[in-house]
Amino acid sequence: MAVALALGLGSWLLAAGRPAVGEPAKPAERVGDETCVQCHAQYVPAWNSVRHNQYIKSDKMPQGVRGCEGCHGPGSAHVEDENFHSIRNAKTMTGLPAAAPCIQCHSGKVKPASWLATPHAQAGLSCGSCHAVHQEPGGPSLLKKPTTELCLSCHPAQQAEFRMNSHHPVLEGRMECIDCHNPHADGPGTKGLLKAGDDRCVKCHLEKRGPFSFEHQTSTDDGDGTCQTCHKPHGSSSPKLQLYFGRGTCLQCHADIASAPPHLPRTGNCFTAGCHRQFHGSNTDRLFFN
Ligand code: HEC
Ligand code: HEC
Ligand code: HEC
Ligand code: HEC
Ligand code: HEC
Ligand code: HEC
Ligand code: HEC
Ligand code: HEC
Ligand code: HEC
Repeated sequence: MAVALALGLGSWLLAAGRPAVGEPAKPAERVGDETCVQCHAQYVPAWNSVRHNQYIKSDKMPQGVRGCEGCHGPGSAHVEDENFHSIRNAKTMTGLPAAAPCIQCHSGKVKPASWLATPHAQAGLSCGSCHAVHQEPGGPSLLKKPTTELCLSCHPAQQAEFRMNSHHPVLEGRMECIDCHNPHADGPGTKGLLKAGDDRCVKCHLEKRGPFSFEHQTSTDDGDGTCQTCHKPHGSSSPKLQLYFGRGTCLQCHADIASAPPHLPRTGNCFTAGCHRQFHGSNTDRLFFN
């Protein structure tokens, strides 16, 4: 089983389940799933049918992480509370306590430190914002909706970018947001939730990977953001996802020579006039003609 049981997180569960001031300090005890579903009957269908829940209910799981109370903490105080509070609800929590119900079994896949550093965690999202907990999932990986639809439901501005003149075929269903992004982050502090360098652009555009005999030294200081020096990742009004139109892309760095002949071709530009066609890198020509 690829699941890492981080039982140390149990202390978070206990801390969060502590009764509020004024309530009796008697620690809550487990009452069992049968009791929970008597009142929360709407959860029963998914509890019995979703494959994931079979792991969670399984007798093989340590009792502390098993069943409804594995995520919500012992429930006796809740059942006795006339207002039915006194129980953990990740929906009304943030940070590690909100993620703990899932991370206690998934600290291998989703590292707590990386997760807490993501703009997603910092904006108050929890695992349950994207993953279905008690209902039938609508998408893969227990996601509430098909992946791209899910992302776009909170990022409508990006939808417009994927409709621009030149764009990656995401709305056409030929690729997904998660081809480039990892919503949980590959590591702490990954900029823009991007997948690590080689996993991002050249995994699909292999011919641009190099090494070439004549490399075009275009990388800027931001390390593996090389392709974005000239390309927009989602969509662009310029052809081929270019950041600027035509030779504007090259003038970012070569303004010095570009105003003198032969650098003002009558038709086309630096790369479409038949000259520096292999500017991504060439194995035969220092000036990238071919
Ligand atoms: C006697 C009926 C009853 C039982 C038994 C019961 N609940 Fe509840 N629970 C309620 C009611 C009523 C509410 C408030 C309305 C709602 O959210 O459905 C509630 C609310 C909750 C909430 C949200 C609490 C909040 O403050 O946001 C959670 C989580 C919860 N129940 C989990 C459980 C779990 C887990 C069990 C079993 C340990 C359980 N319940 C057993 C009746 C019950
Ligand atoms: C794998 C962990 C996990 C298990 C197991 C689990 N829950 Fe939950 N529960 C959550 C999370 C996470 C949320 C918050 C969901 C969200 O953010 O939308 C939640 C929310 C709730 C709520 C509050 C819903 C609301 O709208 O405020 C109730 C009630 C509840 N669970 C009952 C149950 C019952 C009953 C069971 C057992 C049949 C159960 N849960 C099993 C993790 C779990
Ligand atoms: C009691 C332990 C336990 C808890 C708690 C738990 N999981 Fe899992 N989860 C598993 C096991 C076991 C698997 C299957 C083995 C694997 O994929 O590593 C799994 C698989 C998954 C998968 C992959 C499913 C697929 O279709 O590929 C996702 C996504 C997932 N869990 C999300 C969550 C989320 C979100 C939560 C919190 C709401 C959660 N899990 C809570 C044990 C748990
Ligand atoms: C912004 C949406 C979003 C949030 C929030 C989110 N996830 Fe995910 N999760 C995804 C997507 C999309 C995938 C599928 C792509 C992938 O495997 O990276 C996924 C996949 C997974 C998987 C399964 C990977 C596999 O091998 O199939 C696990 C486990 C998981 N998430 C756990 C969590 C946990 C734990 C949290 C909370 C700390 C969480 N997720 C929060 C979107 C989200
Ligand atoms: C429930 C709403 C929600 C869902 C679903 C969601 N996001 Fe987010 N996302 C946010 C919020 C809120 C932020 C932080 C504020 C912002 O930058 O817009 C954010 C931030 C981001 C950022 C970082 C922006 C930056 O400036 O660094 C990326 C990238 C991102 N999300 C991608 C995704 C992808 C990919 C998916 C689908 C797997 C997804 N999001 C699903 C709400 C969501
Ligand atoms: C081809 C790879 C790729 C795909 C596919 C992709 N993104 Fe991005 N995305 C990026 C890169 C690279 C950045 C960083 C832009 C920058 O900072 O220069 C980014 C930035 C973002 C941001 C931060 C705000 C911004 O626009 O700079 C959000 C939010 C975002 N993407 C969401 C999404 C969503 C939602 C999808 C799917 C509908 C998606 N992305 C698909 C590569 C991609
Ligand atoms: C998951 C695979 C995948 C990844 C990752 C990917 N691309 Fe693409 N890219 C494609 C596909 C598919 C097309 C469309 C090709 C077609 O329509 O024939 C495309 C097209 C392009 C185009 C040409 C657009 C046009 O209008 O013809 C450029 C430029 C491009 N990608 C750059 C990038 C950059 C830069 C990155 C990294 C930020 C990247 N790609 C990441 C699959 C990918
Ligand atoms: C120096 C600027 C620059 C850099 C850096 C750059 N590109 Fe390009 N790229 C362009 C321009 C300009 C075009 C349009 C070429 C044309 O129209 O003939 C283009 C076209 C493309 C195309 C579509 C046409 C083709 O040749 O297949 C893809 C795919 C592509 N680039 C991927 C990448 C990837 C991946 C990276 C990073 C490894 C990258 N580019 C880095 C400027 C650049
Ligand atoms: C991010 C900056 C940057 C951009 C944008 C850029 N270049 Fe370059 N280019 C360089 C650097 C740095 C060198 C190597 C230093 C040198 O020899 O001048 C170079 C070298 C060259 C050379 C070889 C010159 C020589 O004398 O060896 C050619 C030809 C060239 N670039 C064409 C292009 C074309 C065409 C474009 C637009 C598609 C472009 N460059 C965009 C930075 C850039």
